[in-house]
This record gives sequence, structure tokens and C-alpha cells, in this order.
Amino acid sequence: MKILVTGGCGYIGAHTIIDLIENGYEVINIDNNSRSNKQHIKAIEQLSGKKITDYTIDLCDKPAVEEVFKTHEDIAGIIHFAAYKAVGESVNEPLSYYRNNLISQINLLELVEQFKIKNFVFSSSCSVYGNTNELPVTEHTPRRDAESPYGNSKRIGEDMIEDLAKISENNFIALRYFNPIGAHPSGVIGEIAYGAPQNLQPIIMETAIGKREILHVFGDNYQTRDGSCIRDYVHVMDVAHAHTLALEYLANNKNEENYEIFNIGSGNGVSVLEMIDAFEKTTNQKLNYKIVERRPGDVEAIYADNTKTSKKLNWSPKYNLEDMMISAWEWNKKQ
Ligand code: UD1
Repeated sequence: MKILVTGGCGYIGAHTIIDLIENGYEVINIDNNSRSNKQHIKAIEQLSGKKITDYTIDLCDKPAVEEVFKTHEDIAGIIHFAAYKAVGESVNEPLSYYRNNLISQINLLELVEQFKIKNFVFSSSCSVYGNTNELPVTEHTPRRDAESPYGNSKRIGEDMIEDLAKISENNFIALRYFNPIGAHPSGVIGEIAYGAPQNLQPIIMETAIGKREILHVFGDNYQTRDGSCIRDYVHVMDVAHAHTLALEYLANNKNEENYEIFNIGSGNGVSVLEMIDAFEKTTNQKLNYKIVERRPGDVEAIYADNTKTSKKLNWSPKYNLEDMMISAWEWNKKQ
């Protein structure tokens, strides 16, 4: 089966392409490389021994994307990753986030309808739950107002799919990722930050390597067991495999509705201070850190109930926190 991946040069996209190839799929990729580069395509080709058909196209350029659909009449499914994802940047540049994330998605969905592509998987985010007090969150936990234009673009992205599904003959899934971290065990695919990283794991790594002097822990006065924020960290390899399972689920007509949502999280809440401890224990490295003020927009605690994903997609995380730390550390040392 031929699968079109968008944003396959990015962090989750590249890991997913490897997983798809290992499961027998043929992959074509569209990426404008505005926040990524071709390094991952080369690495995937080396690891898999397979050639990726790769287009450098901006999804906002609909005629160019349409040409790809005309060239490949046998696309069986789409996994749509391509999007901007930096929360802080989205606050400063809301329109560029709405333009990039929404126009590209509208173009793609119009082409899904035009070319009758049966199966579509969308990268959503746990940020759609906002500052919830219902923990763990299930797919039925009400969404709250987004904390950022980035989060809102994911929320609107879900809404567009939900409305389209009501009149479409095609099938759609939104995967709500929690906090994907870690890297491919080979050490040749991992997260390449665009500009200065904003997320915890790359910052832990930069601090350990000495690229950054100190890690700032944003707040230790939350109502959590140690005062720092709690998140659900999930290995990017497990996140990647969830996409393959989602496609299989749709391709085998196992879906009950033509739009379904799944949480992709480990189900474990881990605090920032516990993350630091886990890094120090698994790598035998001391980490230089200090507690600073809370970061605006942070939610106190969020972690997934992944029962639905496990039952319906037959997904369960295979990697633990130690695997996440070691793989990320290996990847970062090589960079
Ligand atoms: C955020 C978004 C998420 C998005 C992801 C991608 C929200 C609520 N979540 O996740 O939707 O998909 O970014 O970029 O907007 N921390 C520190 N020091 C640091 C960096 C982070 O203490 O230098 C803490 C944060 O306060 C947070 C935890 O580490 O508690 C994880 O932060 P981060 O990795 O940035 O992810 P989220 O904010 O959870």
C-alpha cells in the first residue's frame, strides 16, 4: 500500500516512515523543509535500504500538491504531520501559524475528497485538553480553550475534520500526542530543533552536553507530588507505530465511525524533577539545574488514559522512560 506522508523529514514523521516501511508500506513524502532538512530522508534510506519518493513542496501551494496526487493515483492513505509546532513562537506570530497549519490542511483535505483517498490520519495534540482537572484524560474529556495559537490550530484542525467527516465517504483519525521524546535506537534519527529548543528533553540534552549552562525548571509550587509540572512522556518509536496501527485499523474497516480520536500517551505522569532524576540515573551524568518562575501557558499536570487506543488499535507502549533517555542521549551525543 502506498502512503503519502506530509512532514516526513520532521521528528515524528521520520520515525513513522521507518515504521511504515518495516511494516511493508511504500512511502511518498511531501515536506517544504522550512523547519526540517533532508538529513532524515537519507538516514531512512540507509537504514531501510528503500528509496523514498520525496517532494520538496509547500502544502499551501495547492496546484503543486495536486500534481503529486495526479502522479500517484494509488495513494491508499495519508498521514498529515506537516505543521509549525513551537508554542512560544505561535504566540508571537499567530497569523503565520494559522496560515501555515490551516491552509495546508484545507488544501490536503480538499484533495482527499477530490481524489477519494479513503484513509487520513491527523497529528493532533494533548494541548487541545488545555488546563483540565480531569486526570487522566480520556478522549471524552471536554476540550478547553487552547493556551496558544499553535494549540488552537490543532483544535481547529480537529474541528475541520469532524465537520468534513459528516459529509465525506472517507475515514479520518486524529491522534492526540502527549509528549513524544527519545530517538530511533540506531542513533541516526532524532529530534533536530529548529532554532533554540523550547521543549524539556532537548534542553536536558543540551545542558548535559554543555551547549547550555543550566536547565531552568519552570516552577516548583504546583499542586503536584514534588511541585513541578507533570506530563506524559512517550517514546517517539511508540508514537510512530501508532500511525501504522491507525492506518491498518482504517484499511481493515475496523472503525465504528468515520472520524475517531485516540490518545497517544504512555498513561504515566512524570514530573520535571523526576525527568531530571531519570536522566541522571540512566546516563550517570549530573545535570546543572535551578528552579525559576512558572512558564506562562503551562498546564499543571496532564497524562493520558490510553485504554481506548490499546483496545481498538491494539497499541501499547513498548519503551520505558529509561529507553527514552538513553536513545535521546545517544542521538544527541552523535549530533
Ligand atoms: C508543549 C505543548 C504541546 C506541544 C509541545 C510541542 C502545551 C500545554 N503543550 O508541550 O501541545 O505539542 O509543546 O512543542 O502547550 N520545562 C522546564 N524547563 C524547560 C522546558 C520545559 O521546566 O526549559 C517543563 C515545562 O514547564 C513542562 C515540561 O517541562 O512542564 C514539558 O515541557 P515541554 O517539553 O515544553 O512540553 P509541553 O509544554 O508539555
